[in-house]
Formats: sequence, structure tokens, C-alpha cells
Amino acid sequence: DAAEKGGYEHYMIKEIHEQPHALRQALSGRVGHGSVDLDVDLPEEYVRSLEEIQVVACGTSHHAGLYAARLLESHADVRTTVHVASEYGFTGGRDPSRTLVVAVTQSGETAETLGALRDAARVGARTLAVTNVVGSSVARAADESLYIRAGPEIGVAATKTFVSQVATLALLAVHVGRERGVLSAAAASELLGDVRGLPGAVQRALDADQQVRDVAEAYADSEAFFFIGRYLGHPVALEGALKLKEISYDHAEGFPAGELKHGPLALVTEETPVIAVLTEGARPDETLNSVKEAESRGAPVIGCHSDGHGEKFIDAAFEVPALGEMEPLVANVYMQLFAYHVANRKGRAIDKPRNLAKSVTVE
Ligand code: G6P
Repeated sequence: DAAEKGGYEHYMIKEIHEQPHALRQALSGRVGHGSVDLDVDLPEEYVRSLEEIQVVACGTSHHAGLYAARLLESHADVRTTVHVASEYGFTGGRDPSRTLVVAVTQSGETAETLGALRDAARVGARTLAVTNVVGSSVARAADESLYIRAGPEIGVAATKTFVSQVATLALLAVHVGRERGVLSAAAASELLGDVRGLPGAVQRALDADQQVRDVAEAYADSEAFFFIGRYLGHPVALEGALKLKEISYDHAEGFPAGELKHGPLALVTEETPVIAVLTEGARPDETLNSVKEAESRGAPVIGCHSDGHGEKFIDAAFEVPALGEMEPLVANVYMQLFAYHVANRKGRAIDKPRNLAKSVTVE
């Protein structure tokens, strides 16, 4: 067991540190100059005629889907809706022949995601699995599969597979955008350059592990934790809160930053740290307004920031290197480390949190 953890105390922290490698595997052989090669059979005519992409997923994979949907809408100019798989139904106003249903699932075995994919196939929509497990149930049920190549993930709380899912789906956004003729080679190159920069940028965050640990230990005994972000920072805020609640059992919630004042602010006190995504791709200037609202109520603010955003209002700052729309993913790595160290200090069963399973194969 100790050998399998490669000298780490838990699988989760080992897998957090594997992210640069997982990302390189996801990108290997797929990224060209302004183009991608994904080895999925999506006929050009069909891609051009697409009216909607529907993402179905659960848990962390749902958050990856929310991130990817924003990239698909902005770079591929196709309406993209994201559905918690257990809530999915092929509803009115949609043409199945012009809809692509993308099931995002690490394991490929989540019953609700498999069910949603089957429902979509039944009405005649084309289906694509984005998964880590070759030959999994969802991969077999889908018309096409796109593998995230993250390698086995043992810790119940998903970590490296989240970033690998988003990176792979970013490539899909480039592919679809290019095929539809809405994404220029220059714009594609820019996004792909940021995606290619992820392994190095994530490594820089990992190198700051000791700093994150110190901050986590300073705030570990707080009453609750609130995560905020906008646009691409929103799914990251949701994921940051999910990670913390899964493994530390603390009360944590993620919000779109602008919603803070519409309710959650009532819960903000000196005892509730607010963790904010203040990077490119996450509308840092607007998010700063929410940070100020929290700060003026005495809440400690932890900022995952690039370019000095919000410096004056942050009690603890984690540096994100310049990486365009991929910056919020680096913020996510800090949140993973933060959750890990809070949970570890409390002696939680990090790799097997109570009541949770790695993959849930019953509805
Ligand atoms: C379980 C796991 C989560 C995971 C979710 C979806 O609830 O504990 O970590 O995000 O299932 O799993 P999937 O394999 O479909 O991505």
C-alpha cells in the first residue's frame, strides 16, 4: 500500500501531484498549431449543423462540464447546456439529429450518467463519452469515446481527472470551433497555447504546497468556508467547496461571486473564510466587489490570484501564473491542496470519506 502511494501519505495527495503528468498524457499527440487531432468520428457536416451540445454528468465531472460549456459556447459558438445526469431529460424544442450529448464521467460507470446517455440515444441524439476508463459502460454505450488518459484515480475525491477532463474538453471546443468555421487559427493557437501551458503552471502551484498547508492549518477550525468565482471561476468555486466538504466534513459552499449579496452574505462572519478566484477567465474585477463585501464583514479572504488582482483585500494569496482561460484551473489546484491539508489536520479518512463511493453504480 505504502509503495503504491509512492511515498505520499494518501492517494489523494499523490494524485494531486500527478496532475502535470496526467495533463501531458491528455494532450499527447492531440495538439497541433491552431488545430487538434482527437480521433473521434464527428462528421464535419454534422458538427456544422449542430444546434446544441448537452453535457450530462455528476459530481466533479459536472463541474468540469460547466467549465467546458463556457469554452464550447465562446469558442465553438454552439449553445451548450449542462445537466446533472439525475435531472436529465430530452425536453421540448430540441432536434435530436442536431444535438450532441456528451457524457462526462471519470469512471464511465455512474448509473445516472449512463442512464442519461441511453435516454439521449433512444431519441436519436448522437452521443460522446468523455471518460478515463477504456471499455467502461458509458464508453461502450456511446457512439464515440474521447479518453482523458489521466491514469487510475484511487482517492474517492476526484482531483487529477477534473483538470484532465477540462483540458480534453477544451480540445473538443477547438475541434468543434474549427470545423464550424467560427474559430480562427490564431484564436485556436492562443487557447491551445494556454492549454499546453497547464502542466507547467500546475507544477508551480504544487511547488507552493507548504504555503497552502500553512494557510489551511491557520483556518482549519473555521465555522464554514465559502468559495466564490465568476464565469470560469464559478465551476471552480463549486469544485473547491465540494472537495473540502467531501474530505474534511466541514460546511463549504460555492457560489457565483455575484450571488453572494443575494443571500449567502447573511452567513459571512469573521469565522467564515471566503476563498475567491481572482484570475483571468474569472472576471477578477467584478469578483473583487464580492471580496470587498466579505472583507468588510470581517471574513478572512483567501485569494487565488494572478497579476496581483485584489492584493489589498486578501489575507492570504496564492499566485496563479498568466495562462488566459486556463488560470482558474490552477486556482483549483490550490483549492485541492487547501482541502487536503484542512482534512489531514483533522485526521479524516481522506482516501475513503464516510458515506461516499468512488463510483456510484445505483440510481
Ligand atoms: C462519485 C464520486 C465523485 C464523482 C462522481 C461522478 O460521487 O465520489 O468524486 O465526481 O461520483 O463520478 P464519475 O465517475 O461519473 O465522474
